[in-house]
Amino acid sequence: MSVFDLAGRKALVTGGARGLGQGMAEALARNGASVVVADLLDVEGAAVAEQLAKEGVTAGFVHLDVTDEASWEAGIAEAAELLGGLDVLVNNAGVEISALISEFRPEDLRTMLEVNVLGTALGIKHGLRAMRPGGVAGAGGSIVNISSVAATIAFPGISGYSATKSAVDRLTRVAAAEAGKLGYGVRVNCVYPGLVPTTMGNQLAVDMAELGLFPSVEEAVGTVVALTPSGRLGEVADMADAVVFLASDAARFITGAGLPVDGGMGS
Ligand SMILES: NC(=O)c1ccc[n+]([C@@H]2O[C@H](COP(=O)([O-])OP(=O)(O)OC[C@H]3O[C@@H](n4cnc5c(N)ncnc54)[C@H](O)[C@@H]3O)[C@@H](O)[C@H]2O)c1
Repeated sequence: MSVFDLAGRKALVTGGARGLGQGMAEALARNGASVVVADLLDVEGAAVAEQLAKEGVTAGFVHLDVTDEASWEAGIAEAAELLGGLDVLVNNAGVEISALISEFRPEDLRTMLEVNVLGTALGIKHGLRAMRPGGVAGAGGSIVNISSVAATIAFPGISGYSATKSAVDRLTRVAAAEAGKLGYGVRVNCVYPGLVPTTMGNQLAVDMAELGLFPSVEEAVGTVVALTPSGRLGEVADMADAVVFLASDAARFITGAGLPVDGGMGS
């Protein structure tokens, strides 16, 4: 069996109803894992799980609001019951609200802090509690948090978002240190995706033009590509495959790390 193989692993992906999270859920399943898709979007999330089930994967959907602790408690319990355990948690749910820092609205920054920082912190908390010895799953595992290239470079128009994604990076590293020191058997890493044209990624390019930072959406996207040594935007599969790697035994000696998956944009 390949060290990349996830046969027998049980995974939960937040924000798995669409975009990068959907791709991650599908890639984890394609590599052998059973998967629970967790999201606020019930119809889309259930459809992703249903499609996986049709392909023979043990899969399900749970309604989970990452900002709500009770929702995490119920969602993890439901996922562990459905899958018969939990070894992989991908904290992917996130929101981005662009603004010039001279103009930002406190309520928008609060929303990003709630979802991106508190949501990821609660995910780590409940993931560790479930996977550590004595937890509902109790067999150790891997937590992968989705940060952003925005945590590694300064791009205009996304100060608040960048701050929250830098926080995801720090949460990851401290969680990895604690999990190691306390013998939880759980690795904790994060990924810094580059720009991918999902709902969020496309809106970000529109925002850049609307904020007057670039003359057009095309020029905003062109600037990102020009800053990227690989010479293209990211694709959903680029991010999904990196998550599969970090979830797998191929990454068994990797914890507390941040993996850029950005075509070199942040280097
Ligand atoms: N697309 C990009 O260019 C890009 C780049 C770097 C990082 N990221 C990060 O990748 C992740 C996924 O981004 P995407 O492009 O797929 O975005 P998206 O907007 O297409 O999908 C985000 C998903 O998260 C869900 N979500 C939002 N708030 C939630 C909550 N409170 N509880 C549960 N689910 C919630 C949404 O319903 C949605 O399904 C995000 O964390 C984002 O910040 C995206």
